[in-house]
Amino acid sequence: MNRDALFSARGPVLCVVGARPNFMKVAPILHAFAAHEPAVPTLLVHTGQHYDADMNDRLFVDLRLPVPDINLEVGSGTHAVQTADAMRRFEPVLDANNPSCVIVVGDVNSTLACTLVAVKKGVPVAHVEAGLRSFDRSMPEEINRVLTDQIADLLYTTELAAHDNLAREGVDAARVRFVGNVMIDSLLANRALAIPPERTLRSANCAAPIDTAGGFGVVTLHRPSNVDRRDVLEPLLEVLRDVSARLPLVFAMHPRTRASIDRLGLGELVSEARIAVLPPQGYLEMLGLMSAATLVLTDSGGMQEETTALGVPCLTLRENTERPITIEQGTNTLVGRDRGAIEHEVSEILAGRGKRGRVPELWDGRAAERITADLVAWLAGRRAQAPA
Ligand code: UD1
Repeated sequence: MNRDALFSARGPVLCVVGARPNFMKVAPILHAFAAHEPAVPTLLVHTGQHYDADMNDRLFVDLRLPVPDINLEVGSGTHAVQTADAMRRFEPVLDANNPSCVIVVGDVNSTLACTLVAVKKGVPVAHVEAGLRSFDRSMPEEINRVLTDQIADLLYTTELAAHDNLAREGVDAARVRFVGNVMIDSLLANRALAIPPERTLRSANCAAPIDTAGGFGVVTLHRPSNVDRRDVLEPLLEVLRDVSARLPLVFAMHPRTRASIDRLGLGELVSEARIAVLPPQGYLEMLGLMSAATLVLTDSGGMQEETTALGVPCLTLRENTERPITIEQGTNTLVGRDRGAIEHEVSEILAGRGKRGRVPELWDGRAAERITADLVAWLAGRRAQAPA
């Protein structure tokens, strides 16, 4: 099949990124499109939901992502403003480029915004990382997941639980394909390039250096449900302070969390503990930190999967997860915000009884290749059926 036959009816495949967790999912897809014979023509659209150098630019370099062809520069705002701005600015991009399809990943506001615009204009949408459900509709990401999956044309999944979730929501199984985990494609492709933690800690120049020779934990926190309110954030920081008396911690702090700690005057809880506070880290720095960590404490979705792939115990500071396979097969344990549970699990890990887990099916570094093969065949089939 030559390139013209494949892509003449319509323009390029348009890939959307918006926020940090999208970048490591789209990178392997773009690389697989480029490696396909013939190469799949693409356009990279960044909605600009994340824009800081720390949240954005460093990851583009680390992941060898091209400069986006189009940046919608929506920036921060309420959910309504951010979603609406992305929608308004995305529509003319579709008009101007006539894409053969749109690829969206994950569950951020940009994922839903661009899906909604494309589907209403009759442009097919493929959702990568479909079908994950926390069953917690107070999470903005859960709303984005449910709605995106209802209307997207192709749903690529990372684990089989997603198929049950989609079936329960009445989604036709013909739209759903189990391909594995593109996030783990990125992890495996970059593992050898990971930056050693000593180098990261040295160059971060933290106010309170810590000694990591005897092991360390990595912390990230950014969910609104964990960081926005004093009655939640303060006890969480107290637990981290207490854990740090047993195991020094490296806390890569999201801007939302940093702003909340400052606003609530909780800085001393962190600064007086054995906690090195770093700005948001690059991909290769974070990979180096996680790979060498004794444990990870997080509310991130992606890090639950990455620690499972790395075999590093992960304590998830949430009541639920949309990624149950990381618990059933991987190294993840849900501890919520329960001080007793957190301290118990930390003790178990320090005593060498942490979960070792195994790597789930198809988390093998080739998910993007499978998506490419499937999508190319699907587009060719559509074209064959289209009226001349
Ligand atoms: C978003 C995603 C979430 C994802 C997370 C990873 C949604 C609904 N949420 O949440 O799923 O796990 O990204 O980071 O899409 N900010 C900066 N610099 C930036 C970006 C944001 O300072 O480059 C600040 C914003 O001004 C805001 C805060 O960080 O105060 C939150 O940013 P926002 O994009 O609204 O949501 P996240 O919490 O990052």
